[in-house]
Amino acid sequence: MAKVSAPGKVILFGEHAVVYGEPALAVAVNLRTTCAAMPSRRVLVNDAEPNRMRDAYILSSIVSGWAYLDRKVSVWVSSSVPTSSGLGSSAALCVACVGALRALEGDIDTEDIAKRAFDAEYRAQGGASPTDTSTSAHGSGVLLAKEMTDGYLWTVTKGENVWHVHHRAVPKVGIVVGDTGVRASTAMMVGKVRRFVERNAFARDLVKEIGEITMEGARALEKNDLELTGRLMERNHRLLLTLGAGHPMLDKLVRAVKPHSYGAKLTGKGGGGSIVALTDRPEKAAAAIEASGGKAYVLSPADRGVGVDEA
Ligand code: PMV
Repeated sequence: MAKVSAPGKVILFGEHAVVYGEPALAVAVNLRTTCAAMPSRRVLVNDAEPNRMRDAYILSSIVSGWAYLDRKVSVWVSSSVPTSSGLGSSAALCVACVGALRALEGDIDTEDIAKRAFDAEYRAQGGASPTDTSTSAHGSGVLLAKEMTDGYLWTVTKGENVWHVHHRAVPKVGIVVGDTGVRASTAMMVGKVRRFVERNAFARDLVKEIGEITMEGARALEKNDLELTGRLMERNHRLLLTLGAGHPMLDKLVRAVKPHSYGAKLTGKGGGGSIVALTDRPEKAAAAIEASGGKAYVLSPADRGVGVDEA
């Protein structure tokens, strides 16, 4: 039996643009998904026959995690990462499951797990950037960039896209997520933005501008300049709205937390989903989100990425 856990994440800068090879900055948070795995005569998920739709990420992780495809495994999954809230629940699930399978083979290597988990998420979702899976695997802050720079960890490629993954330290600051309760699928939102980007030069300029803001944001965070980071997050938010990833509830929550935070923006796919705010007054920010009809999660950055837990 192997038991491995991995954290959820929030994207501070660069979602959607990162799908086209632009940079993104994400932070692992203190919510985790755990996967226990044991060789077995047939594939079982939480002691039941797997369901191809419901367990798509787990089944895809089993394919990506094993060195030998014909092996069967029984997995037990539990998670404190809420689903469909922009907190990277699918990536944490893929990283924890792939990690548990690799641990069964005695081979816990973070880079290898990050890459296999990216393949698993990509296959199950029909497209993804490695932002969430690399952040969940490494923990702490993660910058995906076009060039190799300080803190280089590994490189992920898919088709024409190349992402160099880097470690970034994250200042101790409150992270508050506000879930609008409006559900949108990542695949649908990525498809919507893609159609705009493929047809429209203005949209391609927006993507490049998000990339520039992301690099500025990474520099601001490195200098612990939270005021500037917050202003850049708000610029990133407005660009994402123009790109078609907005929703009136997202704007409502961003406005509500503004007096209590350095800055806020939609995080992840958008079209609903969640906002993220950086703040020194997390309880106040959370209360403002709840008073505006959202569900608040008060979180903090987590240094620990994928790791073996006591079985
Ligand atoms: O909402 P999430 O956590 O699934 O994040 C999606 C982020 C995108 O940039 C829109 C897609 C991706 O795979 O990077």
